[in-house]
Amino acid sequence: MRNKITVIGAGHVGETVAFNCARLELGDVVLLDILDGVPQGKALDSFESSPIFGFDSNILGTNDYAETADSDVLVMTAGLARQPGMSRDDLFYKNLEIVETCIAQAAKLSPGAVIIVVTNPLDAMCEVARRASGFPRQRVIGMAGILDSARMRSFIARELGVSVENTHAFVLGGHGDSMVPLARYSTVAGIPITNLMPEDRVDAIIDRTRKGGGEIVSLLKTGSAYYAPGLAVAEMVEAIVKDKHKILPCAAYLEGEYGLSETYAGVPIQLGRTGMEKIVEIELTDDERDAFHASAESVKELIAMIPAATAT
Ligand code: APR
Repeated sequence: MRNKITVIGAGHVGETVAFNCARLELGDVVLLDILDGVPQGKALDSFESSPIFGFDSNILGTNDYAETADSDVLVMTAGLARQPGMSRDDLFYKNLEIVETCIAQAAKLSPGAVIIVVTNPLDAMCEVARRASGFPRQRVIGMAGILDSARMRSFIARELGVSVENTHAFVLGGHGDSMVPLARYSTVAGIPITNLMPEDRVDAIIDRTRKGGGEIVSLLKTGSAYYAPGLAVAEMVEAIVKDKHKILPCAAYLEGEYGLSETYAGVPIQLGRTGMEKIVEIELTDDERDAFHASAESVKELIAMIPAATAT
């Protein structure tokens, strides 16, 4: 039997996730949106590309949660995207309500699913989804680190004129301007980038990575990134449905790891069929730990703004 992947929100990110999950034959895909006709049209268009690509996954567009029942993975992308001048945190109250309503409905119908949250502000929306679903932390994780490290990798590759395939980047912390890209764990063919370029270039890449989402928003003017985010989600879905035990940077709910608890933060996790199998803890220098904790602190402030009425 094929896996079932539900994508909630058929906007730019949702359609990209749905299309890539189908194209990679990760399972049959259900694309759900509140707008009548939009998920149906996008699903049909994607499906009509299947003979050209040669994939056999089905893609169904719907406005009805009943169609999502018994999903293996629920991907939450519904919500507003950032407009120029808007921080991810400005989206907080608008998206809180959307995530709460959508996840409460979807989780009831797919009680064994792994939830991947994409809606921003990411770390706080993960907590909204965790409470609204009542799922254990292993099954409510957020997509951020793969995107942030893909951005950093692409900048490293361009800076050094090497293949992106040679690059590896390591990013910790919240998905926001306070994220913590770790240069000494970011490598080209195993060599730390700190050995390959001057300090000011490393700093410039770190700064651009932190502001990577905003850079796209200011160029697009009417929305935020979706190609790289959509593929980053597909990589997580693949790790889950193929039970790959793959170590990927994701937003996870911490219960003492890295000296933090009751908050989401971007950390390396091992991802498989049951969701998060473990959190990988690495040694940090004092400066790195301080930066990571400061980033987690700004997430905690947002989490404290979630109304107590949000189900736990
Ligand atoms: N139920 C279902 N779908 C909804 C709901 C809802 N209650 N509210 C909004 N949506 C849908 C919209 O109809 C729209 O199709 O969510 C979709 C959002 O799509 P876009 O505006 O294109 O936004 P997108 O670029 O996909 O970003 C979605 O991901 O990366 C984050 O910051 C980004 O929070 C944003 C989210």
